Order: sequence, then structure tokens, then C-alpha cells
Amino acid sequence: MATPRSLARSLQSFQISSFQSIAQLSRPALSSRGKIRSNSPLLCRPRIGASLLRQFSTSPLRQHGHIHPPKPGEELYVTFIDKEGKEHKVAVSKGDNLLDIAQAHDLEMEGACGGSCACSTCHIIVTDEGYYEKMPEPEDDENDMLDLAFGLTETSRLGCQVIMTKELDGLKVKLPSMTRNLQASDFGSKS
Ligand code: FES
Repeated sequence: MATPRSLARSLQSFQISSFQSIAQLSRPALSSRGKIRSNSPLLCRPRIGASLLRQFSTSPLRQHGHIHPPKPGEELYVTFIDKEGKEHKVAVSKGDNLLDIAQAHDLEMEGACGGSCACSTCHIIVTDEGYYEKMPEPEDDENDMLDLAFGLTETSRLGCQVIMTKELDGLKVKLPSMTRNLQASDFGSKS
């Protein structure tokens, strides 16, 4: 049975051998002619460093809930009707989507997938069919997610997919009383 002293000795020798291998990494392996060998750890090190550096992405970050303040005279208006039936009319810019607008104004729209059309927690109901008709048709992905939405109606859309345009100035949307937090990934993992 290992005694405390023999355990301490094993630990000490392990630490020493670990330090030796680290120290070897910082020493070039020399050939008989004194040249650095191609398989020297010293030559390999920059490659290790490069692969670590490649892990840093330079893609621009998407800021959720970020909207552009409307320029004076170019405001578009959208009204959200919250779960208590209270109306919130806000001035917005062309190009912002309803999820970002709602979140920027602290309205209760969850947006669990961050606007990537993979959940139904940004479900909204367009109150006026005329405005619904002015919107571009929902893509297949949006329709798939809408099928999972709680309280689906004929004029339901996903807030993250509705982009404000001049034609939608005056739009009014209702936030459903409940949302269902099912995401596309919930199904992908089971299939
Ligand atoms: S936030 Fe998930 S689909 Fe809109």
C-alpha cells in the first residue's frame, strides 16, 4: 500500500518530469551539424500559436435589441398592444425589425433564438389584415416556426422577420397572451 511519503515522492517526480517536457519545448532540437531540425518543437510553436489565434473571429457582432433612432421627418410608427391590452406607439426607422423595436422599448417579446427564425417566442398578431397583406410573404422557415406558436391566427407573424418599411407606417400588432418556447433544435436532437 502506498504510504504518504511514497505518494509525495511520486508527485514530486511527476512535477519534475512535467517541467522537463515544458523546458524541452523552449529548446530547439539541433541536428548533428548544429542546424535546427524541422521537427523541432521550437519550429512547431508558431503553428500552435497560429491555430490559437485563428479562434478569434472578426465577424461583426449582431446586437440584439439594437435599433436606429429615426431621423427627424422620417419616422415610421408602429403600435404594440401588450398582454394587458395597453397600446404602446413608438417612432421607428425603416429597416428595423419588430423584435428589436419591442426589446429596445422594454416590451415583453422574448426572442429566445435571437432573431434567427428558430423559435416562436417573437409571435405577433397583425390587427389589420390590410397591413398583413402589405408584408412580404413569410418564408418556409417562418411558417414552420409559426406552426409551433401558441394561439396562431390568420395574421400571425414572427416579429423578428417583420422589417419596417414605409408601407408599414401605422402598423398595429398584438402580443399574444402566451408564447411557447419550442425551438427548432428541440426537434433536431430527437430525430
Ligand atoms: S426570435 Fe426566434 S423566431 Fe423570432
